[in-house]
Amino acid sequence: MDGRAPGRMSPAGRAGDRGGEQARAIAAPDVHPAPPRPRPGGPTRDRPRHRPPRLRPREPPEAAGQPRSAPLLSAPLRSSPLLSSPPAQPRGRDPAGLGMEFSGVVLETGENVSIVKEGDRVICASGSQAMADECIIDQKDLWQIPEGVPFQEAAALPVSYGTAFLALEHRACTKPGETVLVTAAAGATGLAMIDVASHVFQAKVIAAAGSDDKCRLALQRGAAASVNYSQVDLKEEVKKLTDGRGVDVAIDMVGGDVFLKALRSLTWEGRIVTVGFSGGSIPSIPANLLLLKNVSALGVYWGRYKEQDFSVFSRSLMSALRHTQEGRIQPHIGAVFKLEEVNEAFCHVTQRKSTGKVVISLK
Ligand SMILES: NC(=O)c1ccc[n+]([C@@H]2O[C@H](COP(=O)([O-])OP(=O)(O)OC[C@H]3O[C@@H](n4cnc5c(N)ncnc54)[C@H](OP(=O)(O)O)[C@@H]3O)[C@@H](O)[C@H]2O)c1
Repeated sequence: MDGRAPGRMSPAGRAGDRGGEQARAIAAPDVHPAPPRPRPGGPTRDRPRHRPPRLRPREPPEAAGQPRSAPLLSAPLRSSPLLSSPPAQPRGRDPAGLGMEFSGVVLETGENVSIVKEGDRVICASGSQAMADECIIDQKDLWQIPEGVPFQEAAALPVSYGTAFLALEHRACTKPGETVLVTAAAGATGLAMIDVASHVFQAKVIAAAGSDDKCRLALQRGAAASVNYSQVDLKEEVKKLTDGRGVDVAIDMVGGDVFLKALRSLTWEGRIVTVGFSGGSIPSIPANLLLLKNVSALGVYWGRYKEQDFSVFSRSLMSALRHTQEGRIQPHIGAVFKLEEVNEAFCHVTQRKSTGKVVISLK
């Protein structure tokens, strides 16, 4: 089983084995229009618009005789250049960052495509084509959006929520009632961690973020307590909040000292999962800290599971889609930008102003 919905065939090809099993995506303003999208916190309409000098949408690839689909929304921005630059990015891989995920409609399918059909609403978690007006996608990179889940929410799910399910369930084995510390808690991944930990795994979440506003947002989204780590010492605050016990699970997106303080905040047999280094530095782990309290330090690299263990990867997406459809979780869209505003969108993220997911609307 690959974790996909019953009755659907498992993907026949892996990367590099794409003949006849791909879908082509094309911008189609008159096909399956997405619902109107609010622009909370996003750029205002009277903001001066300009054509981006860089980061133009890519040209659609040739797709003779191949299936086609239409990306309507993409959620392609990830804030951390660090993950995509050495030494965090494995050698020989494309830099990750822009255009990794989108939602859209399948316009056409090829002969051997069995997982999706024309008209299907899909999300894609692959490569860097989400900024394109149209693209060819291998069917193994597409998942159907369940009925009732809007395009925008669906577009925000793959990376953040896939990572959240993997980190909390597959890696940290989070149990109901446990205490989970989440750093960079108001970011896209942080809010997804809070959502999944508190609303799916019934954990008690302590959110750690860099401003009072971000802490407030994390509390609104399900955290039980918050710590502004730009104002107070993270380890000391967690100690107070847990009556000296510490947390069972820590999920860290920041790295550096924040990671080390989160590690020191673990209780007996606690687990820390390193997810990213948005603060800019990769910490070294003092092994004695692991020994003293019998704690475990784990890593998660969501995209790598697609190559190494596709069923685990697929399950993380299926869980995100199912729980969203059931109303248990809901991604927070912090801002929506138009495609021609992509440079502004990128600045919004890299200048640490964004909360939750930043989405690019292609329509
Ligand atoms: N391993 C994986 O599979 C995986 C998957 C998804 C994401 N990631 C990584 O996880 C990290 C967070 O991703 P995201 O999508 O949640 O990003 P995001 O939405 O932009 O959030 C990043 C957060 O990092 C915090 N931060 C701390 N120091 C920072 C600095 N110097 N510059 C910028 N931000 C800083 C900020 O929160 P505060 O202001 O509250 O500190 C910011 O909100 C990134 O490193 C990303 O590459 C890894």
